[in-house]
Amino acid sequence: MILTNATIATMVAPYTDSSFGLIDNASIVVIDEKIKWVGKTSALPDSWSSSEQILDCQGNLITPGLIDCHTHLVYAGNRAREFELRLEGASYEEIANSGGGIVSTVTATRNASGEDLLQQSMPRLKQLMSEGVTTVEIKSGYGLDTENEIKMLRVAQELADKTGVRISKTFLGAHALPAEFKNDADGYIRTVCEEMLPRAYHEGLVDAVDGFTESIAFNVEQMERVFEIAQSYHLPIKLHAEQLSDLGGAKMAAQRGALSVDHLEYLNPLDVDKLGNGKTVAVMLPGAFYVLRETQLPPIAALREKGIPMAIASDCNPGSSPVTSLLLSMNMACTLFGMTPSEALGGVTIQAARALGLEKVIGSIEPDKQADLVIWDTDHPATLSYHIGLNPCAAIMIGGKWQKCLPWDHP
Ligand code: NIG
Ligand code: FE
Repeated sequence: MILTNATIATMVAPYTDSSFGLIDNASIVVIDEKIKWVGKTSALPDSWSSSEQILDCQGNLITPGLIDCHTHLVYAGNRAREFELRLEGASYEEIANSGGGIVSTVTATRNASGEDLLQQSMPRLKQLMSEGVTTVEIKSGYGLDTENEIKMLRVAQELADKTGVRISKTFLGAHALPAEFKNDADGYIRTVCEEMLPRAYHEGLVDAVDGFTESIAFNVEQMERVFEIAQSYHLPIKLHAEQLSDLGGAKMAAQRGALSVDHLEYLNPLDVDKLGNGKTVAVMLPGAFYVLRETQLPPIAALREKGIPMAIASDCNPGSSPVTSLLLSMNMACTLFGMTPSEALGGVTIQAARALGLEKVIGSIEPDKQADLVIWDTDHPATLSYHIGLNPCAAIMIGGKWQKCLPWDHP
């Protein structure tokens, strides 16, 4: 298949100079599930120009499929009551410490059947898809026991099977302390290390291992014990770090070669160079910043200056970020964090792919990558970050296949 007469934001580096890796009057050749060729239409090799399947994109924009590299999309219930309490002045930590917060979603998630969880989670995934998202990372972390963590990861797998979206499954057993381990965080971490993670891993349900270092969660040393086990299985690691305070989690994770460290509002700008291992991605979650009415900004200028790759994700979850829009997350990253529209699009494509360890497979438009593409009803990629509430997504392709089940007609 040839997609022709397109404006293509390839997101091939360097794109951070606001160039988006843009090629106008361009074509893409897709063979089976992969991109075979991309470039100026005038340079299209003759052997393909008479292809049977040619789609005229009428000057519209094509980008790589968007990647939401940090979500807690599988959960039951909602936390609208907590939203009300916060508006009345309670803090996220106060709510967590009084038995609400993450632990209240744990109760709802444990009580839900796998089928029920799937039904509740599907609309969130479809909403992301409708805005051009073709890959989603989904974390466990609302089960907090072996059976329920595995239930969540199986639902994540089923979402992939039912929609065709690429799903990356992350084990987040060390997300919060469940009530049955009150005052025994070390005991819980032992269970995570000796039972929960090994079981989930042996069932083939874990692509990466994440955790939460924070006063309301675990300390850096406890988290290192989980990472020891993860790395003994050669599983990549990631960490929620420096969201509400500076405990030094990001530095520890980066030293261990983490794929990503996420949130980072309280990361000391002087510590930014400790992330510079050429691998670890800083994942910005402006939805959580916005919802918690945080005022401490992540050290964007220092990250940019040190050349640390920055991704952006929705952090879709029922507490700190009930957000199912990656386009809105891009807008917030620009408006609230001062990222550029080119950094924002890079943040949900190639850098998000790196945050999942998938940068050789997806995230940019270049030969031999998977044909995960979005056609947008717009002529310039900066418009994707600029509009609020307008969805110009016209069609999505995953692995060379147009996707249906969306609120538009596919070509
Ligand atoms: O990324 N920080 C910890 N975890 C989630 C919040 C989960 C929740 O509040 O349910 C986050 O913000
Ligand atoms: Fe999160």
